[in-house]
Amino acid sequence: MTDSSPSAVQLTEGGAVLMNGNRLRDEIVAELAIEIERLGSPAVCLATVLVGDDKPSRLYVKSKHKKAQQAGMLSRHVELGADATQAEVETVVGELADDPSVHGILVQLPLPDGLDPEPVLDLVPPEKDVDGLTERSMGRLVRGKPGLVPCTPLGVMRLLERYGIETAGKTAVVIGRSTLVGLPQVLLLGRKGVDATVTLAHSRTADLVETCRNADIIVAAAGIAKLIGAEHVKPGATVIDVGVSRTGDGIQGDVDFDAVQAIAGAITPMPGGTGPMTIACLLQNTLTAARLQGLVED
Ligand code: GUN
Repeated sequence: MTDSSPSAVQLTEGGAVLMNGNRLRDEIVAELAIEIERLGSPAVCLATVLVGDDKPSRLYVKSKHKKAQQAGMLSRHVELGADATQAEVETVVGELADDPSVHGILVQLPLPDGLDPEPVLDLVPPEKDVDGLTERSMGRLVRGKPGLVPCTPLGVMRLLERYGIETAGKTAVVIGRSTLVGLPQVLLLGRKGVDATVTLAHSRTADLVETCRNADIIVAAAGIAKLIGAEHVKPGATVIDVGVSRTGDGIQGDVDFDAVQAIAGAITPMPGGTGPMTIACLLQNTLTAARLQGLVED
C-alpha cells in the first residue's frame, strides 16, 4: 500500500488497483447519515430476521445493524431458534410486512435445513424488499423496471463505478449462478447503459481457464476457495471476489489474491472488498424503500 489518505488510490504489491470496499462503504454510510439527518423525518427502519445459530450469519447481521445505526437508521432484529418451524418464520416475516414502522426487511440466508426460503421471501412486500430477492423484485430486474436490486451484485456495480472500470463493450465472466449473486450480476452487467457482454460460468463449465482468460472483468461467486488463479486472468483485467469459504486456513475467497494481484489491473481484497459493499447497498436500498413507502421525499 502506498498512501493512506482517504482519496488516494491504493495499489497492491504487484501494481493492481486495490478496490477497497471498506473505504467505499464508509463513504456511502457517511453520505447516507447526512441525507437522513437532513430529511429530519420519522426514522427509517431496517428489520432483520435471523433463524438458527450459524455464527457467520450472526456476525453479518450484527454488522448490518451497526452500520445502519451509523447511517442514522433505526434497526430491529428478530431471532428464532434453529428448531423454528416454517409457519413460525412466515408469521414473523408477515408481521414485519404489515408493520408500517418497518421500511426494509432482510431475512438472513441460508435458513436452517428443512426450511424453504422461497415462501418466506415472497411474504416480503416488494417495496420493503431491501434484499431484492422476491419473485417480484427479480421479475422487475429481468424486465428492466426500477426496483430494489440484490445488494451484493449491486455492490459490485458500485465498486466498478467508483474505480472507473469501463464496462461498455467489455467482456465479463460471472462464475456462479445463485439467485443471491450470479444471476442478478449477469443482468446488471448486461443491462442497457452498462453494456458488458456477459458469460455465465458455473460448476459444469467445461474449461474455466479458457472461458475466463480473455475477459476484461471476472466476478467470482462460486464459493470455491482460490478457484481463480493467475492462469485465469488476462493482464490488466478487473477481478472481483465474492466468494467466502471457510477452510482449515480460515476464511478464503474464490480468488488466489497473491497470485492474481500480480497480473490484474484492479482487484478486490477478501475480506474488505465486496462484503462491506453488500452492507452499504443494503442501507441505500433501505432508504429507497422508505421513499417507495412515502416516508420521505426524494
Ligand atoms: N447471506 C449472505 N449474503 C446475504 C445477503 O446479501 N442477503 C441475505 N438475506 N442473506 C445473505
